[in-house]
Amino acid sequence: MRAHPLDDEATGRQSFMLRRLHALSGVAPVGVFLVMHLATNHRAVEGRAAFDGAVGEIQSVPLLPAVEALGVLAPLAFHALYGVVIALEARPNVGRYPSTRNWLFVIQRVTGFVAFGFVLLHLGQFRVAKALGALSPDGFYARLGALLSEPAMFAVYMLGLTASVVHFANGLWQSGTTWGFAASAGAQRRMAGAAWVLGLGLWLAGVDTLVHFFARCGGLFASSSAQRDAVCQGADMTEGLSNQGRPVISSRAAPHIEGPARGGRPSPRGPDHSR
Ligand code: HEM
Repeated sequence: MRAHPLDDEATGRQSFMLRRLHALSGVAPVGVFLVMHLATNHRAVEGRAAFDGAVGEIQSVPLLPAVEALGVLAPLAFHALYGVVIALEARPNVGRYPSTRNWLFVIQRVTGFVAFGFVLLHLGQFRVAKALGALSPDGFYARLGALLSEPAMFAVYMLGLTASVVHFANGLWQSGTTWGFAASAGAQRRMAGAAWVLGLGLWLAGVDTLVHFFARCGGLFASSSAQRDAVCQGADMTEGLSNQGRPVISSRAAPHIEGPARGGRPSPRGPDHSR
């Protein structure tokens, strides 16, 4: 039986609204969260105290579990799940018409799937672990040090970060078209330029943070030994983990960075956990 034209119209209106809501949720609150999240994490390159201070400020937000659930996790779930529906409906034609726009269309879908997988893993490692009482906020720095000093996990985080940021920057530009405020070719070019500059800045901040944990201190831009020593003097990335009476996650995850008094170079051995 053929659907009534009014039913078709109602379904069309519904999916038009859902598309707009999807584009909006990618910018705010999900995109806004990503910018704030990468900025907060970047405090790690200033050292453990700065990172813990930034985490402490978030933990003191009133009604934090409700803010996280309604302001971050629910919109992220809607954006990701409806994004999968849109991606599966799409008919990529990049084979026949290999234009930049068609490539960006494919890249948006691929990065969406990669970012989705990464966020699930990342939520398990931090948000679920915290909810289950297996990890407390003062152990985030140590846990990041333990995870990211492993080359394989560092590579996973690089991939997840890159996919998330490319997806966000490309989506920001596309949402201008969806919402109609970048209608002319000139406005679209300006919007694309601004989105990619923001994306590059976010990506560099994220890579700097990841390098900090991988190199067990320092970062992309603070690699001179004097700068590293200033930030990392006495830093022990495993401290939060051992405070919780839990085993250290891996043998590489036992960075021990000594201050200039003892040569100012990272020790080749980890700390002694036998005591
Ligand atoms: C530099 C790389 C990153 C680091 C070091 C990092 C670190 C963290 C930490 C420590 C937490 C726990 C915060 C808490 O539960 O209070 C967290 C949560 C979270 N992260 Fe990341 N993250 C990174 C990149 C990303 C990226 C690229 C995304 C992509 C969207 C992301 C999405 C999330 C989400 C959704 C949460 C849960 C937030 C909440 O419950 O409010 N993270 N991250």
